[in-house]
Amino acid sequence: MATTSMTGQTTGEAIAQRIDQLASISESATGLTRLFLSAEHRNAAELLLTWMREAGMSARTDAIGNVIGRYEGAKPDQPALLLGSHFDTVRNAGKWDGPLGIITAIACVAELNRQHKRLPFAVEVIGFADEEGVRFASTLLGSRALAGTFDESALAGRDSDGVSLREALTGFGLDPQNIGTAARAPSDYLAYLELHIEQGPVLEAEGVPVGVVTAISGATRLAVTLEGMAGHAGTVPMAMRRDALSGVAECIVAIEKQCRDDPGLFGTVGTIRVEPGASNVIPGRCTFSIDMRSASDEHRQFAVKAAIGSIERIAGRRRLVPRIEIKHEGRTTPCAPWLQAQISAAIARRGYRATALPSGAGHDGMAVADLTDIGMIFVRCRGGVSHHPDEHVTLEDAAAGASVLLDVIEQFQPKTAAS
Ligand code: GLV
Ligand code: MN
Ligand code: MN
Repeated sequence: MATTSMTGQTTGEAIAQRIDQLASISESATGLTRLFLSAEHRNAAELLLTWMREAGMSARTDAIGNVIGRYEGAKPDQPALLLGSHFDTVRNAGKWDGPLGIITAIACVAELNRQHKRLPFAVEVIGFADEEGVRFASTLLGSRALAGTFDESALAGRDSDGVSLREALTGFGLDPQNIGTAARAPSDYLAYLELHIEQGPVLEAEGVPVGVVTAISGATRLAVTLEGMAGHAGTVPMAMRRDALSGVAECIVAIEKQCRDDPGLFGTVGTIRVEPGASNVIPGRCTFSIDMRSASDEHRQFAVKAAIGSIERIAGRRRLVPRIEIKHEGRTTPCAPWLQAQISAAIARRGYRATALPSGAGHDGMAVADLTDIGMIFVRCRGGVSHHPDEHVTLEDAAAGASVLLDVIEQFQPKTAAS
């Protein structure tokens, strides 16, 4: 990759500038929050479409709001190497999580285009519209639509304002009946490659800018409601209360203890809603989320059952009625060994030590794996900090990631019976 552009920017500077441009599209004046099917989703998609076209791609949005650019190969209509990541964010997010993979992929295609280079296959770049699952509790909606595994029951899910996914799609100008048309055929693709910040401390500790991912840890997300009895804060004796929030507090501490005592298990309660929600009313109903992860599906599933058992016991003892729903079940997804080998070879060719590591965070590849084989390149992030505004990648590491991705693309060998 040319290390400086015509405007004199280095690759790292050019990537970081676009990261900042995309990060300026946020629902909040301070901090970065960009949710699925919001006005910010639309504006970010427009910007990505512009960049894709500038890079020599034809570009469009699909039936769920993903953005897709295509750079034809030497012959038209060849199967494509799919590259990309997501452009939705968590609340008060870091700016690199997701966009780095899309912006770097676009930069690689721009470089091919600059050299008038066509490959024996097409290259597609995708910006997935919903990976984080912040708005509707179910996650990977963009990549599931592409993989043809979108679950229609998700349409009934509601955001915190009571708007259903079906209504939000319609409001965005999309037709919920048409989501099936976003699905692609396995024969459309040779593989999916995602470049992403590591979101953990391993590469920094190893002293390397990039790494090759072995597998993406599975995750289960639950929505739990404890139903008690609202009442007057000044009159109902403490022993007679059925306080839903106190029950939830006990559940949260039990889940934290369970995960602390069980190495390799991660459990997080990230949202909580208290009803009716007044300082002088005993909480009558309380709803919270649980996110549970482990590199082993068996381990996670066993742990989820144990957590449900604890919640039921706590609720029973406090005369609360529990309702427990599994909102998302993502199995641990291996990265294809033949793609890991090609990524490791590219890392070595670029002069770095190829470090293999699993991903504790979830990624769109978990859904895309139902469509085609997946591979992932991680880029070092400062202090392992992510899902936080302090998330940071240096210009040098962003450039290192881009050079590895471009190398993988240029040297890419489709899977053979032997690989
Ligand atoms: C996405 O960042 C996830 O791991 O939930
Ligand atoms: Mn994330
Ligand atoms: Mn991400």
